[in-house]
Formats: sequence, C-alpha cells, structure tokens
Amino acid sequence: MEYKRNIMITGGAGFIGNHVVRLFVTKYPEYHIINLDKLTYAGNLANLKDVENAPNYTFVKADICDFDKMMELFKTYQIDGVINLAAESHVDRSIKDPFTFAHTNVMGTLTLLQAAKLSWEASATGFEGKRYYQISTDEVYGALAFDGTLFTEDTKYLPHSPYSASKASADHFVRAFHDTYGMPTIITNCSNNYGPYQFPEKLIPLFINNIRHGKPLPVYGKGENVRDWLYVVDHARAIDLVFHEGKTADTYNIGGFNEWKNIDLIKVIIKTVDRLLGYEEGHSLKLITHVTDRKGHDLRYAIDSTKLKNELGWEPSLQFEEGIEKTVRWYLDNQAWMDHITSGAYQKYYEDMYKNR
Ligand code: NAD
Ligand code: TYD
Repeated sequence: MEYKRNIMITGGAGFIGNHVVRLFVTKYPEYHIINLDKLTYAGNLANLKDVENAPNYTFVKADICDFDKMMELFKTYQIDGVINLAAESHVDRSIKDPFTFAHTNVMGTLTLLQAAKLSWEASATGFEGKRYYQISTDEVYGALAFDGTLFTEDTKYLPHSPYSASKASADHFVRAFHDTYGMPTIITNCSNNYGPYQFPEKLIPLFINNIRHGKPLPVYGKGENVRDWLYVVDHARAIDLVFHEGKTADTYNIGGFNEWKNIDLIKVIIKTVDRLLGYEEGHSLKLITHVTDRKGHDLRYAIDSTKLKNELGWEPSLQFEEGIEKTVRWYLDNQAWMDHITSGAYQKYYEDMYKNR
C-alpha cells in the first residue's frame, strides 16, 4: 500500500516513545510508522503489544549510531519524517557512565541527522515536505533557583549533568543542520514525564514499586528539589501537534505548570498507593529514607509552555491529581510488567554494566 507519509520514530520501545508510536499508529492509518529501537535495557517491546500487529506499523531493531543502517532504512522505507526519541535518559546513569551518553545522544543524533540530510538531498523533492524532529528536555537549560522564574524558549542552554550536556549538544547539532544546510528541523524541550511504562529506575515507578514491596524509598538529600511533571500522553499529544503544525527551525517548550518538591510528590504517591492497596493512611511513610544527594543535583526545573499554547493551542488534558491516580493504578494493575523488568535479568544487566567502574 502507498502511504501518505513514512515516519521513523526512534526509541519507540521506551517510555515516551511507546506512547508516541501508539498515538501515530492508531490516529494515522494513512501513515507508515517505522519504530526504530536498539532495545537497550530501557527498550521493551512489551510496551507495544496492543499495536504490534497494526498494518501500518513496522519495528526495526537498529542503533541510531549505525550510519550505513540508517542510510539503508531511509532508502528502503522512503522516510520523510523523523521523530528522534532514542537516547540514554537517566541522569544517575550518566553520572556513572558519561561516555555512553555522549555516544548515543550526541553521535547517534548526528548520525541520524547526516543520514536524513544525505537521503533527502538525493530525493526528487529535496527537503520539501520533510521534517526532522528532535525530542529534547528542559534539563538543557540548567537549574532554577526558588524564585518563581521559568525556563522559556529564550533561556540560554546551561546544562550541568552529563545527561543534559549530551542532550544540549545534540540540540546544537540539530540547529546547526538547519542553519548550515537548511534542513527542516524542529525541537521541543519537555519537563519531567510520568505515566504508564516508565522504566522503574525513575522516581515515580521506582517508588510505587518499592511501596508495594515495603522497600525503602531513597530520597536524595532533603527531597527539596523541584521538578515540573507532565502526564506522558499529554507529551505525546504535543509531539503530534508540533510534528504537524510546528514552525520549521523553531523550538517549543512543553510543560504542565505543575511544580512539585520531591518530598511533597513522594507523600502524594505514598498516600495514593496506600489507599489503593487498602492500607491505613500514612502506613508507608516510614519507608522514606534520606540518602546521599545526587552529585550536582539540579535544584529546580520549571517550564513556561505559553508559546505552545498561544501558537498551536496545546494544553495538558489531565490535572495532576487525575494523572497520578491513573498512573498508580496502572502500575498496581500491571505488576507482571513491572516484575518482568525487576527480575534477575535486569539485575544482571545492571551488575554487568557497573562491575568494572
Ligand atoms: P527511555 O530511556 O525510556 O527510552 C529510550 C529508548 O531509546 C529505549 O527504547 C532504548 O532502547 C532506545 N535507545 C537507546 N539508545 C538507542 C540507540 N543507540 N539506537 C536506537 N534506540 C536506542 O527514555 P524516555 O524517558 O522515553 O525519553 C525519550 C526521549 O525523551 C529522550 O530523548 C529523552 O531525553 C527525552 N525526554 C524525556 C523526558 C522524561 O521525563 N522521561 C522528558 C523530556 C525529554
Ligand atoms: P528522576 O525520575 O531520575 O528524573 P530527573 O533526574 O530527570 O529529574 O528524578 C526525579 C527527581 O527525584 C530528581 O530530583 C531526583 C529525585 N530522585 C530521588 O530522590 N530518589 C530516587 O531514587 C530517584 C530515582 C530520583
């Protein structure tokens, strides 16, 4: 069948990627969606069981750092749109292993950009009708004080962690490909996501799972750092909108104006899990364990997404209370998914990864 568009979504087996793939596959039967993922520890095809047999969906196991493979895929599938979510995404891992982050996030993005550029320049219509969309993070802006200021699209990049430095570097390459070669690129910077299918190394799924098992909840430092949380499906909706209607070479912030001090958020999670598990209120508060702070722990992130609202009409669809309730319920209802990940196989991976460092 001749599709209207052939869109490569990279990192589609990860947390945010599976929601983007699901949205595009179901909403646009006229598009061919190619999900390209290396299936690292964070990539899990079980996240996409419900769409894996859709006629307009193809999965390809590949590495965005593999230039020849990328060139081959652009040709085979006549890719005209790329949404790049493939990345190493966990700050704590980046502190232990910065090389992997530079490799995947910087060199991987550059490889994908170069393959897109060469393939599109050689096509009959050139860059016309093409789009390269880089999914970035608010962490590239650095950290805010407790002064009510917000990151806007004009905030200077000032990354602190190896993770955010690698994402910032990737964004600079994306911009450079527009400014140098005229590539039709676009970037969005989003705040912390939460929701179903998040790998349980990140705060919210880790804590829900630990409460279920009565295990300690490791709060870094005093728990006073602030993050701005957005339900992952609302991020996917924003990506859909920006992919189709965003202005080429522009950048948009995505966030829900929803700042939480870690310790307050953790108390909401405890309250919700305790209620849904039938424990008395406050039962799991005793699991809170203050541990050594993360090195270079950014104090506060907060996103101003007014531009996206004013220019493209996007707003989050879920209030936080509703989102966190849905999220906790999902993890409690999908314990098999969680147990599969937290089983010995995952532990072994983790041990192998860190044994010589
Ligand atoms: P994730 O770690 O859950 O998923 C990353 C996916 O990328 C995995 O499926 C993994 O297998 C794949 N991948 C890793 N290296 C690859 C490679 N070399 N080639 C192909 N695939 C590879 O991450 P996530 O939380 O879903 O984040 C997705 C993107 O969104 C990342 O670029 C991240 O920087 C960005 N982002 C995340 C958040 C958040 O709160 N999670 C917020 C803003 C932006
Ligand atoms: P995380 O989910 O790792 O996202 P990010 O570092 O990208 O913001 O962490 C969210 C916040 O929670 C961050 O301030 C670090 C903190 N945190 C803990 O206190 N304990 C934990 O075990 C984890 C994973 C995070």
